[in-house]
Amino acid sequence: MNNELTSVSLFMDSESSLETFAAKMAKNSNLDLVIFLHGNLGAGKTTFARGFLRGCGYQGLVKSPTYTLVEPYLLDGGKNVYHFDLYRLVDGEELEFAGVRDYFDDQSVSLIEWPEKAEGYLPEPDVICRLAYQGQGRQIDVIAMTTRGNEAMLRLLAD
Ligand SMILES: Nc1ncnc2c1ncn2[C@@H]1O[C@H](COP(=O)(O)OP(=O)(O)O)[C@@H](O)[C@H]1O
Ligand SMILES: [Mg+2]
Repeated sequence: MNNELTSVSLFMDSESSLETFAAKMAKNSNLDLVIFLHGNLGAGKTTFARGFLRGCGYQGLVKSPTYTLVEPYLLDGGKNVYHFDLYRLVDGEELEFAGVRDYFDDQSVSLIEWPEKAEGYLPEPDVICRLAYQGQGRQIDVIAMTTRGNEAMLRLLAD
């Protein structure tokens, strides 16, 4: 099954090229994805989230919600984007208490930094992005994990 799912590895020479790529992913999705963002501090996870939100038409400030765990964005049209930063999560149960289970539905996107901190408390991702330092730029590996994620990636690559 896995070999039918798309993956791509790209070099991003600047912050703006990563933002543009993420915006393009947003535009080619139906805004119903769970996206895991892996990578060390400074690798570009929040930059990806910012670009994705720009692609959704959101022009305001996007910061990592390090202390609040999640920042909700209500888009024109009624869909939601939830941007998680789980770096400081101690126990996945905190997420249960915060009531985040309600966030994972067909009317929303979840962009999740540090998903490994909440293993067992998150849904399966539709797409996994792995970001890594490479010289002055960043390497991004994008891997579809579900049919829905795969369809979005195929549209993105054809765009
Ligand atoms: N190609 C690139 N893509 C993204 N960020 C880059 C890139 N090159 C340099 N940077 C810098 O790296 C930092 C990435 O920060 P951020 O997106 O907050 O990372 P994270 O959320 O993974 O900790 C920013 O300061 C940005 O200017
Ligand atoms: Mg961040």
